[in-house]
Amino acid sequence: MYQLCPSILSADFNRLGEQIRTLEREGVEWLHIDVMDGDFVPSISFGMPVIRSIRKESNLFFDVHLMVTEPERYIRDFVDCGADSITIHAEACEDLERTIEQIRESGVRVGVSIKPATPVNDISHMLKEVDMVLIMTVQPGFGGQKYMDECTEKITELHEIIERENLDVDIQVDGGINDKTLEKAMKAGANLIVAGSYIFNGDLVSNIRHAKEKMEGIIRKIG
Ligand code: DX5
Ligand code: ZN
Repeated sequence: MYQLCPSILSADFNRLGEQIRTLEREGVEWLHIDVMDGDFVPSISFGMPVIRSIRKESNLFFDVHLMVTEPERYIRDFVDCGADSITIHAEACEDLERTIEQIRESGVRVGVSIKPATPVNDISHMLKEVDMVLIMTVQPGFGGQKYMDECTEKITELHEIIERENLDVDIQVDGGINDKTLEKAMKAGANLIVAGSYIFNGDLVSNIRHAKEKMEGIIRKIG
C-alpha cells in the first residue's frame, strides 16, 4: 500500500475545510496531522479542537503525528477527537512499550517515530508491536525544511529488517519531500509519504495530481 499523506501544517488555516475537501476530491486517502507542544519541539501547532472540528466533515484517514513530550497523557483525547492512527516519538516517551500498548488498546493504528539522530536500533525491538515506523528526514518542528540525505540509509536499514523478519510494518517518511527526495525515500523502502509544502505551496489541485503521478511513476520503476 502506497499513500500520499498531505500534512495540514502547511495548509491555509483560513480555508482548512475547503482544502481538505479538495484533497478528498482528488483521491487523497490519508491526512497527516502534526501536533506540536512547544516542549518536545520548539513550535506549537494545534490540538484537539481543530481535529474534532475537521473530523465532522471528513472521511479521510486521520494520521496524527504527536510531537509531544510524554504523549501517554493524551492518547485517549486524540482517539476521542477522531484519530485513526497515532504516532508517538520514541524520544518523547517515559515508557515506550507501555505507550505503544496504550495506543493499541485504544483501537487505532500505532506508529512510532524517530528523529534524524535516533538510530533504527532504538526501536527495532518494538517492530512486532507497531503498524508503522515514521522516519523523520528533518528535525521535527517546522514545515519547509531541507531533506536530510543521511536519513535515507535509515529507511533502507529499517526496510531490510522488515523484509528479513517478514513483518507487516509500513514505513512513513516525513520532512523535505519534493520531486527529488520522493524518489530517494521510496526507492529506499518508504510507502507512506508525508508532504507539506510540496502539496500546499502553490496550486493545491495541480500539486496533488503532480505528486500522485510522480509516485505512480516511481512505483512502476520499483516494480
Ligand atoms: C515537521 C512535520 C512535518 C511537516 C513536513 O515536523 O512533522 O509533517 O509538515 O513539512 P514539509 O513536507 O514541508 O517538510
Ligand atoms: Zn509530521
